[in-house]
Amino acid sequence: MRSLVHFILSLALMRLAWAQEDAHLPDYLVFTKQFAVHVQVREPSGIMVWTRDSPLIETFGLELYVGRGNHSSRGPIWDRQLLVNTSVLVDGKFFIHDDGMVVEMGDTIRYRFMVTHKKTLFHSNFRRILVTDHLFYRPKNNYCFSQCLVGDQQVAHEEVAHLKQLLEQKILQCVGTQASEHLFFPLENASKLVADAELYVKSRLFQVEALRPLVNSVVTTYLAHNGVGFRMYTLLDKFKVLELGQGYLDVIDFDSFLEESN
Ligand SMILES: *[C@@H]1O[C@H](CO)[C@@H](O)[C@H](O)[C@H]1NC(C)=O
Ligand SMILES: *[C@@H]1O[C@H](CO)[C@@H](O)[C@H](O)[C@H]1NC(C)=O
Ligand SMILES: *[C@@H]1O[C@H](CO)[C@@H](O)[C@H](O)[C@H]1NC(C)=O
Repeated sequence: MRSLVHFILSLALMRLAWAQEDAHLPDYLVFTKQFAVHVQVREPSGIMVWTRDSPLIETFGLELYVGRGNHSSRGPIWDRQLLVNTSVLVDGKFFIHDDGMVVEMGDTIRYRFMVTHKKTLFHSNFRRILVTDHLFYRPKNNYCFSQCLVGDQQVAHEEVAHLKQLLEQKILQCVGTQASEHLFFPLENASKLVADAELYVKSRLFQVEALRPLVNSVVTTYLAHNGVGFRMYTLLDKFKVLELGQGYLDVIDFDSFLEESN
């Protein structure tokens, strides 16, 4: 019995210690812990580092060193470096790369990143990665999906149409039949500010380069006092708007909106 009490007590203390450890981390580390940074190496040369776009990031900076293992000296010799700051988004990512840097198996990468938020600079601790096979981007390791069906254009088109159909069926199975093609741009006093709902929706989509082809898939539009609603031709079209418009459009999916408020 005593030992059980002891055990429970020490578990509780351990949890407390963990919580305190987190609480005692400096603010900047708690802040930077929430960003996942990805590192990928290419053959024969190239390194890329990125993190997803976040409203908390104004500038993303990287301080990265690559060292060669050297058995005769104690640590790696840091003979390559990449120091870059960027505030430009590429495909929804803060993306830093050096196509010329050669990184090989067995090298060590040491890096930390910086984030500016509200003009304040936060930096992470230094992290180390041993370069093993998993860090390399190798197309041959990737599975072959429909893009491998090149060659015959006709077959490729049929395949794409078939996949679209499959996807929509799967989506319906996942989200249920209440899934809709409806989207909504919130805009206070929209009925006073917007003269032509269709023009408004189409021009909002047109402003995002990746969404231009979807302008013709807008089926209906309507004005509400707090925004402009519209319906896309298919569910997939709706998901494209949500996915490709992320970070560019403050568009609302009624389906997930209703789920969240339930
Ligand atoms: C390892 O380190 C020693 C001493 O710093 C140096 O002389 C040698 O060239 C290094 N070897 C390699 C493979 O970099
Ligand atoms: C990136 O920004 C940080 C913080 O402002 C600065 O200390 C560093 O020198 C910058 N690095 C480059 C390569 O501009
Ligand atoms: C919306 O209209 C009301 C009434 O005319 C006005 O008081 C309010 O400031 C407007 N809001 C915006 C964001 O324009």
